[in-house]
Parts: sequence; structure tokens; C-alpha cells
Amino acid sequence: DKGEFKHYMLKEIYEQPDAVARTLEMALDSDEPTKLRDDFLQRHEAQLKGIKHVQVIACGTSYHSGLVAKYWFESLIRVPCSVEVASEFRYRNPVVIDNSLVICISQSGETADTLSALRDIQKQSPVGLVSLALCNVPTSSLVRETDVFLPTLAGPEIGVASTKAFTTQLAALMLLLLKVGVIQRRMTDENLRTLLGQLQQLPGQLHASLHLDAPIKVMSEHFEYKKSCLFLGRGLQFPIALEGALKLKEISYIHAEGYAAGELKHGPLALVDKDMPIVVLAPKDSMFDKLKANMQEVHARHGELFVFASQSSQMVAEDRLHVVYVPDVCETLAPIVYSVPVQLLSYHVAVMRGTDVDQPRNLAKSVTVE
Ligand code: F6R
Repeated sequence: DKGEFKHYMLKEIYEQPDAVARTLEMALDSDEPTKLRDDFLQRHEAQLKGIKHVQVIACGTSYHSGLVAKYWFESLIRVPCSVEVASEFRYRNPVVIDNSLVICISQSGETADTLSALRDIQKQSPVGLVSLALCNVPTSSLVRETDVFLPTLAGPEIGVASTKAFTTQLAALMLLLLKVGVIQRRMTDENLRTLLGQLQQLPGQLHASLHLDAPIKVMSEHFEYKKSCLFLGRGLQFPIALEGALKLKEISYIHAEGYAAGELKHGPLALVDKDMPIVVLAPKDSMFDKLKANMQEVHARHGELFVFASQSSQMVAEDRLHVVYVPDVCETLAPIVYSVPVQLLSYHVAVMRGTDVDQPRNLAKSVTVE
């Protein structure tokens, strides 16, 4: 039931603060704010203790959450992490490193390519393999066929465009990282405390980001007749740029590409002219100054910038530079919060263009054939 909402997608966007809070409760205890719950993945501690490498396999939006996890695993706990789309991984006879944790990320748990890639790895049976399903459907094939089940507690996702599944995947991946970090002693108590404190604030920040609905709806009017659009981000926001482009193309049918902003000069800058909207994910983080330089390059070529920036940043709107201010959030968790404005932007553009938002043409919710 969509309740007061016009589409399931919008309802699911609005469910994210609760869905993420529920997912976080698997490992966080408000009475014990400085440590993980003892029962979180307790049965699997011995398995997780031995892993030396993470291999993520997924498709579409779930692949994008894996890309964020790579930045997190490598920068926060120095565990090497590779991420690949399942349809490529399974056909290239890949090397699976010994003592790998293979994380299959899938909302449905029935995605054909993801399941096949998992089965191929299991056939190779590398030493110390631990397979994990990060999945929203406990009864799915993927959950049955893996050693460890880490649920996303998003609740049923009906809209074909994935929203709350994505943000709950990110939340659960962060919990998994903390668990590995603690049992492998790759994280100081102080870092753990800091991250746990930041996670406690996350549902509130997601809630605050929903207030951007109105300004984003106004912003979306600029996109109605556009043919093509670029999404730019750096670091942890690069996967969110990819996700924003995927959302826009799948529900509004506007061609969109996500790019690492540092790659602009290596090709896409040639596309920029006065008709090209460029969406920029610009939290005030360690990459902000570099990103500002990228924005100037675009502005100088008369591209029209649509910037999601931190409330506390000094970004000011000017001619051909539109700004929506996102609530302040720590750099590590910013990709989760910045997912909301890109979802809302795609949603409003699609509604304006009159597409079938919950059932975009040619797409299925669960891709059970390759
Ligand atoms: C995009 C979208 C798809 C899915 C992909 C994988 O909004 O929903 O890209 O993410 O088909 O599906 P799951 O996660 O069920 O394996």
C-alpha cells in the first residue's frame, strides 16, 4: 500500500531513516554506545577472523554499494577489497585470492549473474573462502547458498528503482567493516567509538535530508527537456555519482553518466556546453577544494551546475550555479546521506516527464535470467 504517497519509490525514499535505523540496530545498542552488540555476527567470528581480502560481487545499484565499501575497507581498516559486476566476473576466469570474504550484494537474492558468480567461486574452492550474502530477502537462493547471512532490514522494496535497499546495504556494510575491524584488531577503540557515535546520528541526518524534497523539486524543473546529464563526485561520492546517473536514466529516460570528477579533463569535458546539466556531489570533505576546481572548469565552459553542498560550506548560488544544501554529516557516512538528494532529483524529473516511475519500461525488479 502506497498510503499517502503517489508512488512506491517516493514512499521507499521516505522510509529510509527507519529502514537504516532498523538495520543499524543489528549491531548498535543505544545503552552501550561504545561497542558493537555481542550477538552481532557472533557465530561467524572465527570465519571473519581469518579473512585477508574482500571480493564484492553484485549488479546495478548493489554494485554501487560495493564500490563505497571498497573505499571504506581499504581506508579505514586496510583490508584490500575488489569489487566487480557479476556479469563480468563470472566469464573472465578470475583468480580468487585465498582467505577471501566474498560478499554478494543483492536486494532480491535471485539475480542470476550474482548467483552464478558465487557458484563458480565455490567450485574453485579457494583456501579459507567465506561467502556472505548481503540481502534483503531471507528466503532467497543467495542466502541459502552462502556461509553467512547479513540482512538489510529495508522491508519489501516494490519500486523497480532501488532506494532503501541501497542505503541499508551501505549501513550494513559499515557494520560488517566494524566487526572485521574489531575482531582483527585493525581499529582502535577510539576510532570505533567515533564511528559508532556517527552511526547513531545517521537516521536523524537522513530524516533531515528528506526536507530537501521541496528545493529539489524546484531544481528538477531545469531537467525536464534535457537530453543528457553528467553526475560528478570524488572519493566516497564517486559511487554516488554513478548511482545518481543510474537512477536518472532508469526512471526518467534521460541519458546520464556518472564520472569521477578528476576524469573530466580526460574526455567528458568535451561534452560540456550551455545545454549540459552537471550534478555535483560536493560535501565539505577532504576532496572539496579539488572538486571546486573541477566545478570551475565546467562553469568556464558554460555548463549549468546543480550542486549538492554541505550546509556549512561557503557555496553561493550564482548564474548557472544552483545549490541545494545538504545537512552536515561526517565524511565517512556522507555517501549514505547524499544518496537521498540524488534519488529525489531522479524521482521529480521522472514525475515531471510522465514516465512510469515504479515500473520503468524494459526493466524488471528481479533479474533472474542473464
Ligand atoms: C537499479 C536497480 C538494479 C538492481 C540490480 C541488482 O535501481 O534496482 O540495478 O540493483 O538489478 O538487483 P539485486 O540487488 O536484487 O541483485
